[in-house]
Amino acid sequence: MLQSDKRFSSLYKIAFLCGLIAVNCVNEVKSVEFYAEKPAFLPSCKIYQPGFTKCSTNSVQKLIDQLVIGIPEVVEEFGPFDPMHVHDIYFKQDGNDVARIHANLSDVIVKGFSKTNIKESRVSKRDFNWITKIFLPKMRMDAVYKMEGQILLIPLRGSGKMFIEIDNLDITLYTKTRLYEKAGFTFDNVTAVRVDLNMTRVRTNFENIFNGHSKEVERSTNEFFNENWRDFYEALKPIITETVETILYDVMHKVFNLIPANFFVEDIPTSEQLYGTNKSLTVA
Ligand SMILES: *[C@@H]1O[C@H](CO)[C@@H](O)[C@H](O)[C@H]1NC(C)=O
Ligand SMILES: *[C@@H]1O[C@H](CO)[C@@H](O)[C@H](O)[C@H]1NC(C)=O
Ligand SMILES: *[C@@H]1O[C@H](CO)[C@@H](O)[C@H](O)[C@H]1NC(C)=O
Ligand SMILES: *[C@@H]1O[C@H](CO)[C@@H](O)[C@H](O)[C@H]1NC(C)=O
Repeated sequence: MLQSDKRFSSLYKIAFLCGLIAVNCVNEVKSVEFYAEKPAFLPSCKIYQPGFTKCSTNSVQKLIDQLVIGIPEVVEEFGPFDPMHVHDIYFKQDGNDVARIHANLSDVIVKGFSKTNIKESRVSKRDFNWITKIFLPKMRMDAVYKMEGQILLIPLRGSGKMFIEIDNLDITLYTKTRLYEKAGFTFDNVTAVRVDLNMTRVRTNFENIFNGHSKEVERSTNEFFNENWRDFYEALKPIITETVETILYDVMHKVFNLIPANFFVEDIPTSEQLYGTNKSLTVA
């Protein structure tokens, strides 16, 4: 069985050596399928005791802090947490009055998750779904885009670099999970996420948004989007929420297949206890 603490410290040593002698050491870090011992960074909580939500909020914050430092198995799959490289996004939205967009984004980089502040983490005792309130002072997405369509009645056809910068982003994250058993542990299978977003400001810039036809019109169009950022955000809301949902789903799906739910919630019922015929634990 794996000793997580020792493992983390030896990983730091490897990382340090790699930094010193500047070689690619990635292949020497053996990743595991799941953690059989509780990682030291993670405080665990008891859902059937008072103060669970406070404890859980702190626990999820500690998890985020560790993701920022780097959890090897997550880094191996997704690279660093912040800035994060996201796979290409293909986006198609038709039949909307404010926006009709076909957009492809590549070289997508999202910055800002290292400043994630977990405001509240609630777990339902009924189905072990979660509602998480998250605050990010700033989130910025840079990408290379290719777009056709129309936003706020302006017909667009262009390609080039773009960014979207969001200030004071409040995220309410709804996570659906299904418990399952593996090797004597209970795990959360994250099966769906949905986010609800609020912000105080969106700034954007699309280079070459009219395929170079007029720099002046390009500048004034971007200005128009920034002056009318609420309408602009409403128009682009599906693409922004979808991007945030994809990132959070991918990371959470990975993390919760890696770390048993028992290490977050010590007294979590087994999947049999929760879904099975034994109803005694399902009523909170
Ligand atoms: C996006 O990529 C798809 C698949 O490569 C392509 O069919 C589509 O035309 C592209 N859309 C734009 C707006 O470039
Ligand atoms: C966003 O603001 C609306 C209206 O003020 C509110 O109902 C909603 O709960 C807020 N959502 C988030 C994620 O803060
Ligand atoms: C997790 O859920 C997905 C569907 O959302 C399913 O395909 C997968 O088999 C599940 N994994 C486990 C271990 O239950
Ligand atoms: C039901 O769950 C309770 C609490 O874990 C346990 O004590 C009891 O033995 C279980 N009953 C059955 C029939 O599995």
